[in-house]
Amino acid sequence: MTDTKHVHVERSDRIATITIDRQKKMNALNPDVVRELGEAFRSVEDDAEVLGVILTGAGEKAFVAGADIGVLAQMTPTGGVEVSRQGQDVFRAIETFPKPVLAAVGGYALGGGCELALACHMRIASENARFGLPEVGLGIIPGYGGTIRMARLVGLGRAVQLTLTGDMVGAEDAESMGLVTQVVPRDELLEQARKLMGRVIKNGPVALRMALESVYHAVDATTEDAQRFESSLFGLLAATDDMKEGMAAFMEKRDPQFKGK
Ligand code: COA
Repeated sequence: MTDTKHVHVERSDRIATITIDRQKKMNALNPDVVRELGEAFRSVEDDAEVLGVILTGAGEKAFVAGADIGVLAQMTPTGGVEVSRQGQDVFRAIETFPKPVLAAVGGYALGGGCELALACHMRIASENARFGLPEVGLGIIPGYGGTIRMARLVGLGRAVQLTLTGDMVGAEDAESMGLVTQVVPRDELLEQARKLMGRVIKNGPVALRMALESVYHAVDATTEDAQRFESSLFGLLAATDDMKEGMAAFMEKRDPQFKGK
């Protein structure tokens, strides 16, 4: 287990679980927590033993209840830009992380917490999870990519309504709008997250990385550009041992033993 003050990293069965632990403040994100989160992801990126990441919040009540309002209340205009950029950079590093990242949301995912879940590649939630972007009620707007990623995930109409009302949605509604893919009892959240991540990481690690690259590249690209990029990665995979192993295993009716090469 690797620990910083508010972010713990635990590794088992080739999955790293990164836990934000600032329970007295509902795991709210102050600049230290955001920095530690970035460090945690960097440490896992360099660890060849880790194939996938689960991101969660400590305690029963919250994934992350947003950016720390105590810090935001003191912000100056230039300081506000800095706070926003720091969060955006760390969240973008999560979105472009070369290994799959799954948010396991148990409880409140509000403001920056909701934006953090949006930056992950996949999301599942416990029955008591609640999502929302309450920033406008504080006289600000989402500043960690929420005005960008929410619309991409749930569509413009729903995203605008969530952003303008600041309304919270429960886990079932979050599932029906595609914000999460699965809702599970609170005490099964991590177990179900590990099961889902287990189904992902049994696949070829290089293929997983390239699949993520291609899918996320397509978000910002023209169809022509995205297709060319997809073809290049598709072809490149023919150079990997993993492709040879995956196909040989199919022919030989056995499970593949991928090496990530
Ligand atoms: N920033 C700083 N502190 C926060 C926080 C945040 N985003 N969210 C919760 N906390 C703190 C509370 O101030 C309280 O601290 P205290 O015990 O020192 O007073 C503690 O966490 C527990 O929260 P509390 O409000 O007492 O719990 P609750 O169960 O009644 O309500 C929430 C939970 C999440 C609904 C409520 O805390 C809330 O609305 N938080 C702010 C959410 C938000 O607006 N986020 C976006 C920020 S941009």
